Amino acid sequence: MNLGTDLHIRQIKEIEETPMALLTLADPSEQQVQSYLAKSDCYVAEIEGETVGVYVAGEISKDTIEIYNIAVKETFQGQGIGKYLLMDGVDRYRRAGYKMIEIGTGNSSIGQLALYQKVGFRMDRVIPDFFTDNYETHIYENGIWCRDMIRLKCQL
Ligand code: ACO
Ligand code: ACO
Repeated sequence: MNLGTDLHIRQIKEIEETPMALLTLADPSEQQVQSYLAKSDCYVAEIEGETVGVYVAGEISKDTIEIYNIAVKETFQGQGIGKYLLMDGVDRYRRAGYKMIEIGTGNSSIGQLALYQKVGFRMDRVIPDFFTDNYETHIYENGIWCRDMIRLKCQL
C-alpha cells in the first residue's frame, strides 16, 4: 500500500457522518467524544471508499490546536496510517498559522507515546487522576491501569 496515493483524507461536515465506532476506540466515553466533536474539525482517512482512520482537532487558544482523538481501524493498524494522519494534522494547522499542537494520552498508552514522540511531540505535563475522575470504568492497557493523562506538545 502506498499511503501517498491510496489514502485519501477529507473533512467531515456533518456530525452524523462521524465514525463513532472508530472514535470510541481512542476514547471509550461517547459523551466525551460528543463534547469535543461539537467544537472541532473531524477528518477521515479512506482507502477505496472504506473509512480506515479518523482524527479530531480543535482550537484551544488563539495559537494552539489540540488533537482530541486519533484512531485507525484495527485491521489497518501498524501500517503507518496513524503516523500519516498525525503528520497531516501537524502540516494542516502549521499552514493555517497555528504555533502549537497538543495531544493528551493515558499513562498506559506505551505505543501511542512512542508514536507521538516519533512525529515530534514532546512531553509537557501530567494531569494526575484525569481518567479516574472523568471515566466511569477502569481502563487497562499493556497490563497498566490508565489513571493519569500525559500531555505532549509539538511546536509548529
Ligand atoms: N514501542 C516503540 N514504538 C512503538 C510502540 C512501542 N511499544 N508501539 C508503536 N510504536 C511505533 C511504531 O513502531 C510506529 O513507528 P515507526 O513508523 O517509526 O515504526 C508507530 O509507533 C505506529 O505508527 P502507525 O503504524 O502509523 O500507527 P497506527 O496506524 O497503528 O495508528 C493509533 C496508531 C492511532 C494509536 C492506532 O493504534 C489506534 O487507533 N489505536 C487505538 C485508538 C487509540 O489508542 N488512539 C489514541 C488515543 S489518544 C488520543 O486519541 C488523543
Ligand atoms: N510495553 C509494555 N510492557 C513492557 C514493555 C513495553 N514496551 N517493556 C517491558 N515491559 C514490561 C514487561 O512486560 C514486564 O512486565 P510483566 O512482568 O508484567 O510482563 C516488565 O516490563 C519487565 O520486567 P522484568 O523482566 O522484570 O525486567 P528486566 O529484568 O528486563 O529489568 C530493566 C528491567 C532493569 C530496565 C532492564 O531491562 C535493564 O537493565 N535495562 C537497561 C538499564 C536500564 O535502562 N535501567 C533503567 C534506567 S532508569 C534508572 O536506572 C532509574
